[in-house]
Amino acid sequence: MQLIQFTGTSNLTEKAVELICQIVKEKPDATLCFACGETPRPVMNGLIQCHEKGSVDFSRVTLIGLDEWIGVGRETKGSCAQMLYDDFFTPMGFKEDQITIFNGLSANLSDDIEKINDLVEKKGIDFLLLGIGMNGHIGLNEPGEDPNQNAHLVNLSATTKKVMSKYFSEEIAIEKGITLGFSQLLNAKTIIMIATGERKAKIVKQIIEQKPNPQLPASLLKLSKNESLFFIDKEAASLLD
Ligand code: PGA
Repeated sequence: MQLIQFTGTSNLTEKAVELICQIVKEKPDATLCFACGETPRPVMNGLIQCHEKGSVDFSRVTLIGLDEWIGVGRETKGSCAQMLYDDFFTPMGFKEDQITIFNGLSANLSDDIEKINDLVEKKGIDFLLLGIGMNGHIGLNEPGEDPNQNAHLVNLSATTKKVMSKYFSEEIAIEKGITLGFSQLLNAKTIIMIATGERKAKIVKQIIEQKPNPQLPASLLKLSKNESLFFIDKEAASLLD
């Protein structure tokens, strides 16, 4: 994992957008996987600008979902599906047949898991954009989980249940999530994990200082044998020596 510090969030965003555009130019049918949440939003906005300018053709990429809260669907503001569609997929003009994401309202989650696992197995992930939870989770891989898993159901940690309320406009009790697992994530050809802002400084310091271990899922990105980049801004780097 290569740590790259940026002076500002805008340089960080520009570099991430440039890299993603490069990947799609070189492989127009690339498979891309994007985290939802606050962190990836500026990068998504940058990609929307590229799409609007027509500088990169995204019409052949495949999109695979990273995670979802169980019990909510696209019509609930704050679900991953809602954020991905409204902030990214719709403005990018992606067609339905380009998109496979988890359905938090599915009556048959094991079929959904199998479908996503098959797709990841068949196509692989060319590019993966990640944020980091306040407890170091990646997607919804929570601290202490077995990292040798494909897509799976997760019991949400106390920290995640507390933090997640920021996404929803009303109080929703959610106990479980669904996420791609580290067996899949670590095989992604290029990974950019982003941490921005002072609130991420403590977890960034832990990730840098600790050896890869499942108690701190983000540290497992150090095990990637492919291109694994850790982009942080000045605020997120503020506790580093
Ligand atoms: P955030 O979420 O980008 O909204 O901080 C990160 C995460 O929990 O993965």
